[in-house]
Amino acid sequence: MSAIASPDIASPGDSFGLKQRRNSTILNPWSYVKSELWTQAPIFKGTTKFEPLPDSKNILVTGGAGFMYVDRDFCYWKSQWTIHRACWFVRHLTLTYPNNYNVVSFDKLDYCATLNNTRVLDDCPNFKFEQGDITSPSDVKKCLRKHNIDTIFHFAAQSHVDLSFGNSYQFTNTNVYGTHVLLERAREHGINRFIHISTDEVYGDVPIGAADLAETSILAPTNPYSASKAAAEMMVNAYRSSFKLPLITIRANNVYGPHQFPEKIIPKFIMLLERRKKLLVHGDGTPTRRYLYAADIVDALDTIFHKGQLGQIYNIASKDEISNVDICHRLLDIYDLPHQTKEELEQWVEHTEDRPFNDHRYATDGSKLAALGWEPKTDFNDGLRTTVDWYRHFGEIWWGDISRVLTPFPVVAGTEIWTKEEHDALLSDGELGPEENGTVWTKKALNNLQASGGTV
Ligand SMILES: NC(=O)c1ccc[n+]([C@@H]2O[C@H](COP(=O)([O-])OP(=O)(O)OC[C@H]3O[C@@H](n4cnc5c(N)ncnc54)[C@H](O)[C@@H]3O)[C@@H](O)[C@H]2O)c1
Repeated sequence: MSAIASPDIASPGDSFGLKQRRNSTILNPWSYVKSELWTQAPIFKGTTKFEPLPDSKNILVTGGAGFMYVDRDFCYWKSQWTIHRACWFVRHLTLTYPNNYNVVSFDKLDYCATLNNTRVLDDCPNFKFEQGDITSPSDVKKCLRKHNIDTIFHFAAQSHVDLSFGNSYQFTNTNVYGTHVLLERAREHGINRFIHISTDEVYGDVPIGAADLAETSILAPTNPYSASKAAAEMMVNAYRSSFKLPLITIRANNVYGPHQFPEKIIPKFIMLLERRKKLLVHGDGTPTRRYLYAADIVDALDTIFHKGQLGQIYNIASKDEISNVDICHRLLDIYDLPHQTKEELEQWVEHTEDRPFNDHRYATDGSKLAALGWEPKTDFNDGLRTTVDWYRHFGEIWWGDISRVLTPFPVVAGTEIWTKEEHDALLSDGELGPEENGTVWTKKALNNLQASGGTV
């Protein structure tokens, strides 16, 4: 199958009626890729299927147009559509339980979202999309009432650590206040289940050789993203204790796979190699992360939904711990690009400034979830190959022009994106107001500030 050459833009137009500022790209989550894409594609669903819950009928999924919670599966390296593990979450629920669950995807359609991710579900009678903002109590109330919601999966978030160093108010607003709004509206409305999605990053850095952390470990976040997710968890705990809201909290390792916005390391590096550009590695590239293939996390979520206990916290843990530099090597292998000697490697890998602080590793213990019968099934190299194949065909068309997303420290305001240099120039020319100052705190910026006696 050939790649689709250009996006078929649907209304509203590219700029959403926004005034586009100098040098920016505006991403349009409403744009659709050509429809042949969908007609060529068979429909797939996930591997897990449980006895449906009698008291869950109408399920709200916040952030449903983002990465983890939509999908179909296509295996290009086998050059054919094949059944491959599970689909991502909204799709899995919608297609696996068509007579049992109605699924409402509630999403603001932020810069990283795209309706391409759920378009394949548009004709399913048990699927609906609602555009709305979790920080708006009236949006949330309207949606809960309209669809008579009894179950909430709360994924919506600002999720990119790099951006949280520059635009941290946005992270507190969405991740903490947005979660609070959702909890409060859920309390008023009355629900049977509220499943809150958090991250392994709330535990903070885990030293090499230390034991994997169980769910009872203390939270010690180190960056504004993880701090906002930990703060959201505190609000969840408060609603569990004060109002007996039926809550489950889930802390997942890093997730990768087709459909992830190419700001995160794996899709970003794939798209850079597609453009035959160097991989831009923050710092020395030695920090590691544990990776879960998206299909596996969908099965884990389905398992917790049907077999997990209300009031509990579950880690979703992988054993695939991989450094950023190792990701470069594995991708260069897939692309058959020589990287054995120092000179060869330098042709493809460039080390940039580091984040102001970069946790060296996260390590969580997944035995509590394993006791419910889940374990990851996808080998990292297989998952990576499937991911590369998907981006090869769709990466350039799925979100629109992602050139600026692929730079080392892009700056985002709403759905508008600049490179760090372009944004700095706009600021110094006075073309952005102070509230649009998404300052990017790289290690160098921090050192300069501290050298001049300032603090963050
Ligand atoms: N991706 C990972 O590796 C990973 C790992 C562990 C946990 N998580 C958590 O999983 C969740 C989803 O992650 P993701 O990777 O799918 O993120 P994503 O950034 O791809 O998607 C987030 C979605 O939330 C929506 N959103 C943002 N602000 C909103 C608002 N105010 N109202 C309504 N919708 C809003 C966006 O439009 C987008 O569709 C997040 O809570 C994240 O913290 C992600």
